[in-house]
Amino acid sequence: MRIVISGGTGFIGRALCVSLCHDGHQVSVLTRNRETAQRTCGPKVTAIEWNGREAATLASCLEGADAVINLAGAPIADGRWTDARKQLLTESRVLATRSLVDALSRCSSKSRTLINASGIGYYGASDDRVLDEGSQRGHGFLADLCLAWESEALRAQEFGVRVVTLRTGMVLGKDGGALPKMLLPFRLFAGGPILPGTQWVSWIHRDDHIGVIRWALTTPTVSGPVNAVAPEPVTMSQFCKVLGQSFHRPSWLPVPGFILNIALGELSTLMTTGQRIYPKRALSGGYVFHYKTLAPALQHILAAE
Ligand SMILES: NC(=O)c1ccc[n+]([C@@H]2O[C@H](COP(=O)([O-])OP(=O)(O)OC[C@H]3O[C@@H](n4cnc5c(N)ncnc54)[C@H](OP(=O)(O)O)[C@@H]3O)[C@@H](O)[C@H]2O)c1
Repeated sequence: MRIVISGGTGFIGRALCVSLCHDGHQVSVLTRNRETAQRTCGPKVTAIEWNGREAATLASCLEGADAVINLAGAPIADGRWTDARKQLLTESRVLATRSLVDALSRCSSKSRTLINASGIGYYGASDDRVLDEGSQRGHGFLADLCLAWESEALRAQEFGVRVVTLRTGMVLGKDGGALPKMLLPFRLFAGGPILPGTQWVSWIHRDDHIGVIRWALTTPTVSGPVNAVAPEPVTMSQFCKVLGQSFHRPSWLPVPGFILNIALGELSTLMTTGQRIYPKRALSGGYVFHYKTLAPALQHILAAE
């Protein structure tokens, strides 16, 4: 297949490029910095420069592609959610998606599939209830952002493109995402759960995230929302306990939520609240998870440390 990936230089995108190139697919990456992207993604990938929002020349890049995978967006947890930061987080996703969909609409030979990133933030903060793709949207900044993001992607259905919106949980890997940040206090023998500790953590090993993307890519009957999370989420306390055991460090020093709130403001809700998400559509559609439970997933990642 010829596949175009926006945000292909990121934590998920890099691994996706390796996986797709390994299997002989032709991969192009849309990036804001062509030289860096070429170095990051390697010689098998074609890096194409864009500014994340202009569609003028984009249509020619997408012409005849079999699939477009849209992962672009400024990092959610890299700074306090000030009004300016919220605007960047939203625009870098919504405008990038809009420009891709507008460009797709102008192609004479249109891609059949658009896989668009989204997040489990769609469901808002929730209690112990198990949520699947049929559950209602929640409240808050991330829920609104995910709705706007998914709505832009779904416009491509109007001209016959199959759209999958991947509601992704916390992706675990050694060279990006939340895990390296969570590991730091454990390295210093000062690890412990973020309180209250009962909040749910819906996680997925990066290999499975790539697996779910590739399953969605090659399963024509899948469209709409797909929860990209492992089947067995855990509470924050359980997560940190397993992390400590896997890393041979104690998990004993809890982090009070109010301290995080002082340090990070509204962004702290990403860590002090959670969602218990079930990957109903991936499981019923035949995707087989390599890492269903947390301990083997963390052991696999930390073994490479
Ligand atoms: N990792 C997770 O746990 C997780 C969880 C839920 C949802 N997601 C979503 O999945 C997608 C991929 O995640 P990731 O962890 O791979 O993200 P990432 O490492 O932050 O990479 C995202 C890519 O987006 C591009 N980008 C960054 N800022 C941008 C901006 N202002 N405008 C346009 N493009 C910009 C960058 O590519 P260039 O620099 O090459 O342009 C970057 O490589 C993201 O949209 C993220 O929100 C991730």
